[in-house]
Amino acid sequence: MRTATARTAVVAVALLLVVLCPTWAQVPPKKRAVPAKAARAQCCDEVRVLKVQVANLSSLLEDMGRRQEADVRSLVRQVLELEKQNHQQEARVTEAESKYSEIHNRVEIMQLQAAQAAPHTTSDAIYDCASLYNRNYKISGEYKLPKDDFLRTPDLDVYCDMETNGGGWTVIQRRKVGLTSFDRDWKQYKNGFGTIRGDFWLGNEHIFRLTRQPTVLRIELEDWEGEARYTEYGFFTLSNELNSYKLFLANYSGNAGDSLRYHNNTNFSTKHKDNDKCVDDCAQLRKGGYWYNCCTDSNLNGMFYRYGAHTKNSDGITWYGWHGPNYSLKRVEMKIRPQNFTP
Ligand SMILES: *[C@@H]1O[C@H](CO)[C@@H](O)[C@H](O)[C@H]1NC(C)=O
Ligand SMILES: *[C@@H]1O[C@H](CO)[C@@H](O)[C@H](O)[C@H]1NC(C)=O
Ligand SMILES: *[C@@H]1O[C@H](CO)[C@@H](O)[C@H](O)[C@H]1NC(C)=O
Ligand SMILES: *[C@@H]1O[C@H](CO)[C@@H](O)[C@H](O)[C@H]1NC(C)=O
Ligand SMILES: *[C@@H]1O[C@H](CO)[C@@H](O)[C@H](O)[C@H]1NC(C)=O
Repeated sequence: MRTATARTAVVAVALLLVVLCPTWAQVPPKKRAVPAKAARAQCCDEVRVLKVQVANLSSLLEDMGRRQEADVRSLVRQVLELEKQNHQQEARVTEAESKYSEIHNRVEIMQLQAAQAAPHTTSDAIYDCASLYNRNYKISGEYKLPKDDFLRTPDLDVYCDMETNGGGWTVIQRRKVGLTSFDRDWKQYKNGFGTIRGDFWLGNEHIFRLTRQPTVLRIELEDWEGEARYTEYGFFTLSNELNSYKLFLANYSGNAGDSLRYHNNTNFSTKHKDNDKCVDDCAQLRKGGYWYNCCTDSNLNGMFYRYGAHTKNSDGITWYGWHGPNYSLKRVEMKIRPQNFTP
């Protein structure tokens, strides 16, 4: 009975080992008779080898996984690199395009100057943005008005608004960036200052010359809430320097109020040149050059204040007819074109 139990046990272990160690199953059948202890020892060696193989395999798998991961990463890197090259290519194309258009622009201006050099009458002279518009320059931007021997005027960089209300506008003043000081002296207001694409005053001498033909003035205003309004004067001119660039206006229209009327018939004043109608030195108080009366109903060349309110001072960019004396506007443009202009 005991031997029978032992035998059953041996068979059971053998079966178990067959399941566990398939290699052992391949050994010749006669060895099935080996004692259990020896069988167990042999099998455990096999198990150990198997374990090592498994370990080797899993390390191999891990290795492969790592390599694959590295491959994926390098692939991603390549894709990114390609994308970057693509961007650079695009940037280069854009740059080339802008260079081309710049050159194109210059060629056009040269053609313009060549045309100017030819004998001409005043009627076809390139005199302002309106005459450029009439020659089919209908894109807003910076232009160079050629020097004119007939009018004895030097060449002049201007910004043309070729869109607003039919276009043909020569911009004479702009406030929008706020980094250019407008607290300047007579000579600077005479000749102009600032940058034509940013904040600037075109210059009283140029404005005087441009308004010798009957001229319309348009003033565009924007507040810090993003609302925009405008004022137009159907007639606008300055007298010459001998007459202190005195202002003449007529025929108001618009939705911002008539806040330049108070400055009608007044001389231009700057710091160190007090031509106002006041005991106070308005240019000093309002920190700009303007046709100061006593002193202001508008102060478009005043100090640039962010976010409008400047209750402590009276020197902001103001237009009393819209926001009163304590609100400094966000953006201003003053522009002119001939009365007889037709788009
Ligand atoms: C396990 O890998 C080592 C080195 O990678 C090798 O030397 C050994 O023979 C391998 N063992 C087995 C059982 O494959
Ligand atoms: C103002 O407008 C009226 C009517 O259009 C015109 O008769 C007059 O000449 C204008 N005034 C000036 C100074 O241009
Ligand atoms: C305006 O300027 C003119 C000439 O420059 C001068 O004769 C006149 O007195 C000035 N007016 C005022 C109010 O300063
Ligand atoms: C400005 O003054 C002139 C007179 O010099 C006058 O004819 C004109 O109507 C005035 N302009 C305004 C807007 O009041
Ligand atoms: C503008 O500010 C001054 C000084 O703070 C104040 O006296 C005046 O009432 C203000 N005016 C308006 C229209 O808010």
